[in-house]
Amino acid sequence: MITRRDLLKGLGAMGTMGTVGLPSLLLPREVFAAVTPFSLPLNIPPVLTPSSTDATTDYYNLNVGETYAEIIPGLQTRVISFNGAVPGPTIRARAGRKVAMTHYNGLPATTLGGAPGKVSIHLHGAHCPASEDGYPTSYIQPGNTRTYTYPNNQLPAPLWYHDHAMDYTGPHVWYGMAGLYLMTDDYEDALNLPKGSYEIPLVIQDRNFDANGQLVYTKNMMGETGNTMLVNGTIQPYLNVAKRKYRFRVYNGSNARFYKLALSNGQSFQVIGMEGGLLSAPVTVTSLTLAPAERADLIINFGSLAIGTNVELRNTLVGSTDAAYKLMQFKVNSSATDTSVVPSTLRTVSKFTRSQAVRTRNWTLAGGMMGGMWTINGLGFDENRVDAKPRLNDIEIWKFTNQSNMDHPIHLHDVMFQILTINGRAPAATHAGWKDTVIVPRMMGTAEIIMKFTDYTGKFPFHCHVLEHEDMMMMSQFEVTP
Ligand code: C2O
Ligand code: CU
Ligand code: CU
Repeated sequence: MITRRDLLKGLGAMGTMGTVGLPSLLLPREVFAAVTPFSLPLNIPPVLTPSSTDATTDYYNLNVGETYAEIIPGLQTRVISFNGAVPGPTIRARAGRKVAMTHYNGLPATTLGGAPGKVSIHLHGAHCPASEDGYPTSYIQPGNTRTYTYPNNQLPAPLWYHDHAMDYTGPHVWYGMAGLYLMTDDYEDALNLPKGSYEIPLVIQDRNFDANGQLVYTKNMMGETGNTMLVNGTIQPYLNVAKRKYRFRVYNGSNARFYKLALSNGQSFQVIGMEGGLLSAPVTVTSLTLAPAERADLIINFGSLAIGTNVELRNTLVGSTDAAYKLMQFKVNSSATDTSVVPSTLRTVSKFTRSQAVRTRNWTLAGGMMGGMWTINGLGFDENRVDAKPRLNDIEIWKFTNQSNMDHPIHLHDVMFQILTINGRAPAATHAGWKDTVIVPRMMGTAEIIMKFTDYTGKFPFHCHVLEHEDMMMMSQFEVTP
């Protein structure tokens, strides 16, 4: 596997006309996983029980380790799991109540895909002290344990935990290191949205498998995409549903693939939230695009469909014959009473205004040419360099301009932000709430975001969430200063 350090060495030796893109072409080509679409039931990741609790905190134990998973029936796929599960077990957290997650790193020194076994676990979407954030070089070495403590002093939101090791987040996540962390609070519970078995997480990921059922990772620096679509680790699953409303917590957990979600019967659905929690009001749409790391809180009402109806969840960014088109199927197979409601007012989103910002920072995104690296303001990540120093409690506007020919989903740690503009225009209503990832459109596209740096000082990364772009240096860091 080529790393960005090898890349830099290579660039030094060969100049910028190097052939660093070539190694991936020499790896065995992936084969299409032979599973009949909609023949496997959707896996629901298990909710992890705390190992103990006290007045303030729920304590969880997680073991990171290689194991086998039966993803393709009859074959054993080597994966990197949390507690043996891929995706990892789901953490259910409550706003205002702490969670302490203790990870034991049971990986060997070199793990799947030739990646090092050292890890750093990041809780994506968390507002927490820098020490708990899973900094890319704050490793848990193989054989070691560490505890991350999350205050959960933030609006309830769909978070997720995943590896963030420097240069190797792409392979670590591809081989399985991701799990969900769903936070709620009394206010949200009182809304009477669909809950219990009617609130279902859907983590969408694409992978490639070889003929033996093993995952194939090529570190394609343009972004690793797969030809086999998984939801919650199941290849193109089905889910039996009743004639009623469901709440789906949808995560794009893919390394690089974007999805435009739509239902095969053309039915509309409601978006009630995105990464940072509930929108001020539900938004009815017939499709929704999710970039890597974006999340959507969706309500789909199967109430008007006849028993026996099958509805596919599709990715209409690709054509109907593309392997990435069919994601999963809902099979309407029963009746159910539905006392849930989707209120017309969900939760107040206090809006920042431009005039509150004390400064604007400009960032250019570039790279991807001639197999070179990806950059922010012309530079790759350097843990010893800080590119912005917002003061604690300052409100800032950041404007990203994308000089490359690929869209980049930019993610900030520490803060949830609001989008002011995309290509100069106000965002769609679905994107007008709290976000932690924003698509900066290709070919000189722009995105302006606004946020407040509260509570915690210290260094936090921000980066493209196409994991191969991140690993190939499209990452920077800011330091919140007192
Ligand atoms: Cu989901 Cu810095 O990452
Ligand atoms: Cu993050
Ligand atoms: Cu990118």
